Formats: sequence, C-alpha cells, structure tokens
Amino acid sequence: MAQNINRRVQTLDEFTIQQVRDFPHATGELGRLLRDIGLASKRVNVEVNKAGLVDILGDAGSINVQGEDVKKLDVFANNQFIGVLRHGISCAGIGSEENDDIVIFDDEISNNSKYVLLMDPLDGSGNIDVNVSIGTIFSIYRRVSELGQPCKLEDFLQPGNRQVAAGYIIYGSSTMLVYATRRGVNGFTLDPSIGEFTLSHPEIQCPKNGKIYSVNHGNFHQYNEGTRSYIHTCQRKNRNNGGPYTQRYIGSMVADVHRNLIKGGIFMYPGTTDKPKGKLRLLYECNPLAFIAEVAGGKATNGEISILDLQPTELHERSPFFIGSIEMMDELERHLAQG
Ligand code: AHG
Ligand code: MN
Ligand code: MN
Repeated sequence: MAQNINRRVQTLDEFTIQQVRDFPHATGELGRLLRDIGLASKRVNVEVNKAGLVDILGDAGSINVQGEDVKKLDVFANNQFIGVLRHGISCAGIGSEENDDIVIFDDEISNNSKYVLLMDPLDGSGNIDVNVSIGTIFSIYRRVSELGQPCKLEDFLQPGNRQVAAGYIIYGSSTMLVYATRRGVNGFTLDPSIGEFTLSHPEIQCPKNGKIYSVNHGNFHQYNEGTRSYIHTCQRKNRNNGGPYTQRYIGSMVADVHRNLIKGGIFMYPGTTDKPKGKLRLLYECNPLAFIAEVAGGKATNGEISILDLQPTELHERSPFFIGSIEMMDELERHLAQG
C-alpha cells in the first residue's frame, strides 16, 4: 500500500528547485551552493550529536587567528564545510574564522563559480562541552573579480548590503537551517528520519517588538553611557515598553539571535573600554545575521550606522553589534544618541 506522504512539506532541495522554476533566468548555482551547505551541516550535526560520547571534546591544542582556544569540533566543522564546498561546483573560495587568510579553491571549475562564502563554522564553541546549542553562520557574495581567475580578497571585503544570501544552522533541540535571500527568510528543520531539511518556518518575520534583551551583563560597567541607559530601561517598568524585559544570554550568539528573531527581542554585543570594537566579527558573524534580520523586518547597527553599510577593510575585523526587533532597536538608538 502506498505510504501516506505529506506532500505539503517541502525539502530544502525542493524549495531551491522551486525558486529556479519561478525565475527562468536563474542558473541554479546558488541553489547548489545551498545544497552543499546543507550537506556539510548534516555531517557537522552528526558529530555535534556525538560530542558527549566520543573523544572529540576539548581543545584541539591550538589557538585560532583571533587568539582564542580552538575546540576540536571547530576544526572538524571548518574542514567539513571547506571540503564539501571545494569539491562542489558553486563556490570560488571561502573566508573562515578559523583560517588566517582566505582559502582560494583555484581549479578550473571553482574559478568559474560566481560565489564566495564567509563563515563562522562553529559559533558558541565554548558551549560544546556543556550540551548547549551551537551553530554555523554563513554569508554569500557574488564575486567582483574576473570570472575564470582565482577569487581575490576584494571578493570577500564587500559591504554586507551586497550579500546575495546569508544563513545559519543551529544544532539545538532540533537542527535548523535558516536561509535568507532578498526575497525572504525561511527556516528548515532537519527531519532525522529522512535526513532532510524540511520547510518548517516559511517567510519568517521578526516581531516589531519583544520582551527579551540579550547582553553580557558581566561587562556592564565597561559599556558606554547610552548602552547602560538602555539596559536600565529594559529592567524597568515603563509605560511605553511594557517592561521589565526578560534577560536571556546563552553565549551562542546564533541561538540568542534566532530566539529573538522568532519571539521578538534585542541582542547586544557592545564595545567595551577594554575592547572598543567588541568581540564579534563583522564579515561572518554580524553581516549575515544583520542581513537575515533586515529581510525579516528587523534591524542591526554598530550603534551608529547600519551594519550592512560598513565597508570592511580586514577579513577578521570586529564590530560592536546591536540586532533585533525594529521598535526595540529604535528605542536603543534614542538612548545611544543621548549617551
Ligand atoms: P565563537 O564560538 O565563534 O568564538 O563565538 C562566540 C561568540 C558569540 O557566539 C557569543 O554571543 C559571544 O561570543 C559570547 O561572548 P562573551 O562570553 O564575551 O559574552
Ligand atoms: Mn562565533
Ligand atoms: Mn566560531
């Protein structure tokens, strides 16, 4: 007897094929790149789920280019993504948190690919050992260098508003891939029974307002006056904002931002007196999440201007980061302007 398959549920592949069908001039290259990302993330997911069982926990014994400890899973995730994308036919090269320089694939097919990808292969890696959600963040640009030649650093140093697509994968209570193009943000949940990402959150919109704020309170006294003043507002009963808000900060930005995107909220990683540019990396942490938030109707700034308008000068540069529901961001901006 035929199985009762729910044909209303679209897999990631079916979704990208549908997009190509809707746009007859599309070549399908972006869809193939997304499929490669999906494949790499499924492999990472398998290892993440085994993290408590096998000897993959702990530091890999080296430090990354940011001077931070590298966990074994960071290395594994980085290698998986690079391996899949290098062997695919839709990516000319990558920039990664875990690689000092860009990785240029430089073979005939890759040199003819029109896209480059930037990624944080494992975000929240400090949470691996304690079974808290972690994720992968990625950003896709159309290269500006000549097709047929190896890609160049200039392909990666484009402002965020030039992103073609961006997304993240969360390895959490479910594994989820959230993917944005200018046309919309869609969320796919991994169905472990068939090993496919299936469309579970079509057309995600970030609520205009929320009741969650996410910030590292340990650094409170190092934030500027405007930021401290806004945090105080979050903690008070206020006729306008329905506060006090709830504070939630996991330490995996991708999970904090995901929750706020779905429920409404604001995430902040401000500059501090010790580190005026904060901690987060513009190209593969801030830009992709900012792109997703803005397509979903939210907003992201560095405290002064839109994250997406910043012209990068270095692959690993950092930026203060504020992202979330539009009305909360507007209120934050009023405080920053007065601070
Ligand atoms: P990564 O694991 O890629 O180094 O990123 C960790 C980031 C981010 O995910 C998180 O929100 C932030 O670091 C936490 O930093 P603090 O401990 O300084 O708050
Ligand atoms: Mn990170
Ligand atoms: Mn990382």
